[in-house]
Amino acid sequence: LPPVKIALLGPGTVGSEVVRLLTQEAEDLAARVGAPLEIVGIHARDTSKDRGPHIPRELLTSDASALVAQADVVVELMGGIEPARTLILEAIAGGASVVTANKALVAAHGPELYEAADAANVDLYFEAAVAGAIPLVRPVRESLAGDHITRILGIVNGTTNYILDEMTRRGLDYDVALRQAQELGYAEADPTADVEGHDAAAKAAILASLAFHQRVALADVYCEGISAITADDVIAARETRQVIKLLAIAERTEGGVTVRVHPALVSEDHPLAGVHGAFNAVFIEAESAGGLMFYGQGAGGTPTASAVLGDIVSVARHKAIGGKGPRESNYAAHEVLPMDAA
Ligand code: NDP
Ligand code: HSE
Repeated sequence: LPPVKIALLGPGTVGSEVVRLLTQEAEDLAARVGAPLEIVGIHARDTSKDRGPHIPRELLTSDASALVAQADVVVELMGGIEPARTLILEAIAGGASVVTANKALVAAHGPELYEAADAANVDLYFEAAVAGAIPLVRPVRESLAGDHITRILGIVNGTTNYILDEMTRRGLDYDVALRQAQELGYAEADPTADVEGHDAAAKAAILASLAFHQRVALADVYCEGISAITADDVIAARETRQVIKLLAIAERTEGGVTVRVHPALVSEDHPLAGVHGAFNAVFIEAESAGGLMFYGQGAGGTPTASAVLGDIVSVARHKAIGGKGPRESNYAAHEVLPMDAA
């Protein structure tokens, strides 16, 4: 079969690891897809910047639209709303499938992107958008599609978990811990999204939309971050054998759906208290399946690249031998309950 042509947008923390793995694992990936994967170009703002040994200079281009137009699969790892949204819509309109890790974009513009992808009969996959390496989108979107999910609860932001954990276990200052999380490649380009809870809220909105088959917008999510948490709060929690965790909680009750993100006191005995560093953990309750638990690395270039690669294999396989992933454009418009009605 002819190669599946891949365009990568954004050779940053995640993007450069994706390119490394696509190159290093080319033979195995070709066998799994049923056709070779060919990187036809990599879009970056500054094509003269040295991006390390894994990004071949000759593949760099500043013309994103021209690159997207020649691809079978577009992998968007730039982050932010624009130009990511426009480029993804251009890719879909041109018949390319899309893989993205961009939770901010999927949470804010999911319905528009789903509709475009379904209308063009191409795939839109975003496993890496929620909880880094942990397979969570696919289980909720596909494996549990025959069940009724009633509750999702967990830690879905690695940066804030890292900060709170370093403050608790090593007595680090908030600012020092945040700087370390940035250096380790966990934080968003603007870490305000992490510490104010917006990143977790975007992930909660995406999961709730998929789990409850309804449109849950970012504005529907009650959101409180960790920026006001002090060393004294952490010490006070420890004195009562508790730790502070930033939790995301989405519930479907008879009254409707509620979604919230906020810091919470968790008993030292609870499994969530044992989630350290940038790890994430998510509990899902479903009527037939009962309780499920997902745990793993929630952030970082290499773990996140694993999730992106998994999506690339799936959508490239559809391009090579046929098939299409799940459709989401038929979600019901929905009234999500305000918090005071929950
Ligand atoms: P980085 O900031 O490390 O990389 C972003 C890349 O995109 C850089 O190469 C940057 O170029 C490029 N870029 C950004 N804006 C533009 C633009 N307007 N036009 C052209 N190129 C642009 O981010 P990450 O790799 O950390 O994250 C990428 C995506 O993955 C984000 O959506 C993020 O939310 C998501 N994600 C990240 C995880 C992580 O642990 N880091 C985990 C899960 C998801 P330049 O180098 O020139 O600045
Ligand atoms: N900034 C995000 C986090 C990256 O810390 O969880 C993973 O989505």
